[in-house]
Amino acid sequence: MHYSVNIKERIHWLGVNDRRKNLFENIWPLPHGVSYNSYLITDERSALLDTVEMGSDGEYLERIEALLDGRSLDYLIVNHMEPDHSGEIDTIVRRWPDVKVIGNARTTKILASYYPSAVANIQEVCDGDELDLGYHKLRFVFTPWVHWPETMMTYDQTDRILFSADAFGTFGTLDGGVFDDETQFAFYEDEMRRYYSNIVGKYSGMVQKAFAKLAGYPIDMICSLHGPVWRSNTARVVELYDRWSKYEAEEGVVVIYASMYDNTARLADYIAHVVAAQGIANIRVHDVSKTHISYLINDIWKYKGVLLGSCAYNSEMFPLMESLCRELVHMGVKNRYLGLFGSYSWNGGGVRNLQKWAGEIGWEEIAPAVEVQGRPDAAKYTACEGLGVAMAERLKADRC
Ligand SMILES: Cc1cc2nc3c(=O)[nH]c(=O)nc-3n(C[C@H](O)[C@H](O)[C@H](O)COP(=O)(O)O)c2cc1C
Ligand SMILES: [Fe+2]
Ligand SMILES: [Fe+2]
Repeated sequence: MHYSVNIKERIHWLGVNDRRKNLFENIWPLPHGVSYNSYLITDERSALLDTVEMGSDGEYLERIEALLDGRSLDYLIVNHMEPDHSGEIDTIVRRWPDVKVIGNARTTKILASYYPSAVANIQEVCDGDELDLGYHKLRFVFTPWVHWPETMMTYDQTDRILFSADAFGTFGTLDGGVFDDETQFAFYEDEMRRYYSNIVGKYSGMVQKAFAKLAGYPIDMICSLHGPVWRSNTARVVELYDRWSKYEAEEGVVVIYASMYDNTARLADYIAHVVAAQGIANIRVHDVSKTHISYLINDIWKYKGVLLGSCAYNSEMFPLMESLCRELVHMGVKNRYLGLFGSYSWNGGGVRNLQKWAGEIGWEEIAPAVEVQGRPDAAKYTACEGLGVAMAERLKADRC
């Protein structure tokens, strides 16, 4: 029996759960796996919306054939060319040589570089063009850079469904349920933010542009390329995406430290304790050497307060802290409250370079940095108290 889920009149979900891959894009951990979603519309004319990662499902083609029941495939709509979705394009074109591959001018260029034999099948569309499948009337909305330059979305005007490419996607496989109301929302909210912050966040400005473009479209259901089909929490995920792409964050603090011999770690724990004592409940403390950068970025996207500590290391900050700081600049994270601290033995380098970086990223530094030679003494703990209190006060001032 071939597995698919009917998500609406003549629309089928054909996703694949990948529990084998350890790292998405060979960098982001997948402890709960990931799904690649593909959708098939079996209307008067049939259309497949995106494919899946190459080889992720040996029965993918058979599943499509079963649903088409002897008919041929008319269209393959390519909303996104990243290989986790375009991996089976060649398979589809070989099986149905007359299929029209729908994409835009940028899609054609990328398609030519990955699957040159499929270029002959391309039918280029312009922003706002429509495709009438019979019952379903589709419209293409160009949303460049969410997450690649060619990315577009397909809107089904008949059932008010947005096929949103990577947008609203999450890490985490679909463990039984396919619709959001058949799953645990809290789990996916966290994994959706991690996916957003790790993969799409750099293009937050383009996400906002996409939102402006989609403002006039009533949306009852969102079919993303990763994770659940959103039908009960549609407004909620749109609101979350809107907030994340505006760099809005929750009240809370993430403390991240780099420490070899625990002196910087002691400062981190004490500062976190002070912040908590001031009535801030959402606090996460991470050791940069232990927790993968994927989760650190996720928490930085979640919380408004960021406290970073680094020991000195060969006149620099600790390499893994430097890597995190580079990535935050690269991603362009904005509007956070910042506090800095660290330990050294002779000429320093940890705090000094964190301060240099603070100038680059432009976040609001809520109090002077605390730097300790060797082990923190009572006076240094008092200075840390100032840092913790200032962070808590700054956050509380934002309460309305
Ligand atoms: C490999 C290595 C490189 C270091 N480089 C410096 C340095 O350039 N400047 C400095 O003042 N201290 C340097 N130190 C000393 C540490 O920064 C110092 O011991 C600090 O207290 C360690 O903090 P921690 O306990 O949080 O790891 C270095 C230590 C090690 C092991
Ligand atoms: Fe992508
Ligand atoms: Fe993707």
